[in-house]
Amino acid sequence: MQKKLMITDYNIKGQRVLLRVDFNVPLNSKGVITNDKKIRESLQTIQYMMQEGAKIIICSHLGRPEGKVVPEFSLKPCAERLAKLLKTPVLLSTDVGGVDTHKLVRGMKDGDIVMMENLRFDPGEEQNSEELAKKFASFADLYCNDAFGSMHRAHTSTSKITEFLPSCIGFLVQREIEVMGSALENPRRPFVVIVGGSKIKDKITLLNNMMSHADTVLIGGAMSYTFLKAQGYDVGKSIVEDDKIDFARLLLEKAEKCGTEVLLPVDHVVADEFNFAAESRVVRTEKFEKDDIGMDIGPKTIKMFEREIFHARTVFWNGPMGVFEFQRFSDGTNAIAEAMASCGKNVTTIIGGGDSASAVERLGLQERITHVSTGGGASLKFMEGTTLPGLAAISDKHE
Ligand code: 3PG
Repeated sequence: MQKKLMITDYNIKGQRVLLRVDFNVPLNSKGVITNDKKIRESLQTIQYMMQEGAKIIICSHLGRPEGKVVPEFSLKPCAERLAKLLKTPVLLSTDVGGVDTHKLVRGMKDGDIVMMENLRFDPGEEQNSEELAKKFASFADLYCNDAFGSMHRAHTSTSKITEFLPSCIGFLVQREIEVMGSALENPRRPFVVIVGGSKIKDKITLLNNMMSHADTVLIGGAMSYTFLKAQGYDVGKSIVEDDKIDFARLLLEKAEKCGTEVLLPVDHVVADEFNFAAESRVVRTEKFEKDDIGMDIGPKTIKMFEREIFHARTVFWNGPMGVFEFQRFSDGTNAIAEAMASCGKNVTTIIGGGDSASAVERLGLQERITHVSTGGGASLKFMEGTTLPGLAAISDKHE
């Protein structure tokens, strides 16, 4: 993988650095941050910049306000949380690169931090606008992208801006691409990939790439019913993507040609209605009844998947094994998280962001996983082998 310039490759003393972070954190109905992982993970880069005496102008999106000022999506809670974590003031501008931002930047001393309001309050951000990029460049000397979770977006603050400022990545992005890049390019084998979630449609390229790349692919979650149907099983009323049955068959054929083992669930926790309190029982794959809805992988499948995980040297997981948001259908997802956490230091364990990351965090297992990505969509795209526009835009490092 092409190396990118790092923040450490520049002398940033006294420089105004525009730092793109991904502070798209979950908020509750009172606007309180419920998980600040993304903020905490950005601290290393910010603290480095403070120590080096840069003037740090932080920018991020939050939610999808669609180019309008929506007060619930203000970055105020993020600025406050960051200030608390750093024990230093973080001034939040009232605009996105406008008069107020300029005023705050003019007043900065070395090591100070200013945060711009939510980038997506300006319609130009998602349009990858040149005008907005020029505006940002007018008050900064250097651009640093440490927003891995947004690198799959070609927006002004992740892409266009690099046409107007020298660019680099921060420590968070460096860590993400180092760990996931080695798994993609040169994994220690056996390389086991676990894919779950509801739809094949969302993971077509990942599945396609992994069928030739991994040694073993374990498939769970609702998408497994489409694969099982492709193999001729009756799966009752489980969710099936009828328009993806042929594709599922092609994927299985591809895996066979490439010598990749694909394991599908051999048993299931089924219910007669899609409900958190629904009556449930365990059935073998060939024993679905016509009203059964698959809600989770069953105990035999858990054992089978655990065996594969315990033999692996590299494990990548994306997507839950069942309806894990309903506690009684979360055993499969929890078991995968626990198996990965028990692998020990000799195994590289990687969790793509999103639901699998939430499951691991809910169980408090994140410290025992090699890498829990901060990017849901971005980690998926990265492991698909797709070029991330935000990464491609950063200057290459020539050694
Ligand atoms: C994420 O939370 O996955 C990132 O912040 C990207 O958010 P987006 O899908 O709204 O671009």
